[in-house]
Amino acid sequence: MIVIAHLSDIHIDSSPRSAERTRSVMAYLESLDIDLDAVVVTGDIADHGLESEYLHVRELLQTRHPLLVCPGNHDVRDAFRRVLLGEPVTRTGAPVNQVLRGAGFVLALGDSSVPGKDEGFLEEETLAWLESVLDETPEEVPVLVGFHHPPTALHIPFVDGIRQFGEHRLAELAARRPGIVAFLCGHAHTAAATTFAGLPLLVAPGVISTSKLPWESYGPGVHVYRDEMAPSLAFHVLDEGGRITTHYRSVPV
Ligand SMILES: [Fe+2]
Ligand SMILES: [Fe+2]
Repeated sequence: MIVIAHLSDIHIDSSPRSAERTRSVMAYLESLDIDLDAVVVTGDIADHGLESEYLHVRELLQTRHPLLVCPGNHDVRDAFRRVLLGEPVTRTGAPVNQVLRGAGFVLALGDSSVPGKDEGFLEEETLAWLESVLDETPEEVPVLVGFHHPPTALHIPFVDGIRQFGEHRLAELAARRPGIVAFLCGHAHTAAATTFAGLPLLVAPGVISTSKLPWESYGPGVHVYRDEMAPSLAFHVLDEGGRITTHYRSVPV
């Protein structure tokens, strides 16, 4: 059994609030009885993409579990790479695409951010990278593909307006190349599950806040719950048959 924790949208800034919420979630992960196969954080890591924020993130996301993170629309690629990942920037503005090859699974995290914009898009370079990851993976090994922006509408208008666009290219890749068992994303700041390209699309809730659903009456004109809802995360469980099950958990601050 493979167990992966999935959190998203920690939005670390200079306020104590963002750090406290992330600390609560990370302390919960450290308290678990097992070593997780991975912890994945699907973007909006730093609230303003500042070096000082990434330095703080490095400290906050320290964990005994294998960790993989990708940028969101609030992140800045070069600072993300240099400060958070500790890698040299050899090509300014290049997408940050990373793969974790675990025991019995592959986690491919692509960069759906578009510098200077809130909406998402997978560059041709990122799609080619994803295809090469799939090519290098034996067919029986399940692949989880993650990014920040959901590639489909989630029926939350302000999120749907800045979702991932150009998604037909990803759907074509998934149809052409078997092996993907699910897509993982964040950005929506709500725990959600739907499908994309005939596969599960599993949305991690936001650690920093929770989006108001259009049919909820809370705060007219307000888009998000802040302290009214606890930070939360998802656990994805992959069984021997390659089937994925997702559990969602809230963690008191
Ligand atoms: Fe976010
Ligand atoms: Fe976002």
